Amino acid sequence: MTDARRPGLFLSFEGMDGSGKTTQMRLLIDRLRAEGYDLLETAEPGGTPIGLQIRKILLDSANQELSSRAELLLYFACRAQNVDQWIRPALAEGRVVVSDRFTDSTLAYQAVGRGLGEGIVREIHRFACREVQPDLTVYLDVDREVGLARARARNQERAAAAAPDETRIDDEAAEFHDRVRAAYARLCDQEPSRIRRVDAGQSIDEVAAAIWSAVEEHIAAHSLRKATADV
Ligand SMILES: Nc1ncnc2c1ncn2[C@@H]1O[C@H](COP(=O)(O)OP(=O)(O)OP(=O)(O)O)[C@@H](O)[C@H]1O
Ligand SMILES: [Mg+2]
Repeated sequence: MTDARRPGLFLSFEGMDGSGKTTQMRLLIDRLRAEGYDLLETAEPGGTPIGLQIRKILLDSANQELSSRAELLLYFACRAQNVDQWIRPALAEGRVVVSDRFTDSTLAYQAVGRGLGEGIVREIHRFACREVQPDLTVYLDVDREVGLARARARNQERAAAAAPDETRIDDEAAEFHDRVRAAYARLCDQEPSRIRRVDAGQSIDEVAAAIWSAVEEHIAAHSLRKATADV
């Protein structure tokens, strides 16, 4: 739902590993920048310098013993820092914030996937994020096999380039993935006006076009700052 009380626009990308979030976010950001919008680009877990330190703990494949509750709190520690340091100030200034994942990921992966429960995740969200929610969430829905195949191909390319190993969640069982995908489907049903499901099995261009039509509707409803307007 569009929040008319703040000038900025908050967009988030959601979906399983390999669904195309980073690819589509890149394309959207390039397009918004070309149109002159002032953007804050962020990713979870990560974003702020402190968040990037937390990300290393969360995604290191050596940390198999990380407990589910510790994992949940680390995700929210990262998010709280991002909201306070970057996201709220940017929205107050009328910028477009684009985040690769936000609380919906925690609702899908930790609340349902890890079985921690939706109630506690929503409660911690209220404390950590102080009610900050995306105006529009793009959910890239893809079959498990397609998403995993894409993520594995990409990770192999990265390994060849000696990038850090971030495969801990990729190694989870198929059953876990199915539960997470079902959780995303329920979130779409619960909040159809905020979360836009896009068939991510389509070509990159087709997915980008579907996303742009959803974003355009929201741009029209906000008084956004253009990057060139005050320089
Ligand atoms: N629609 C598409 N068709 C074919 N390949 C795609 C499509 N979208 C993305 N890809 C490719 O799939 C791989 C994974 O995409 P990407 O990294 O954007 O996914 P992601 O959702 O960000 O994954 P992760 O959650 O693991 O970060 C990349 O190599 C990308 O080029
Ligand atoms: Mg990504």
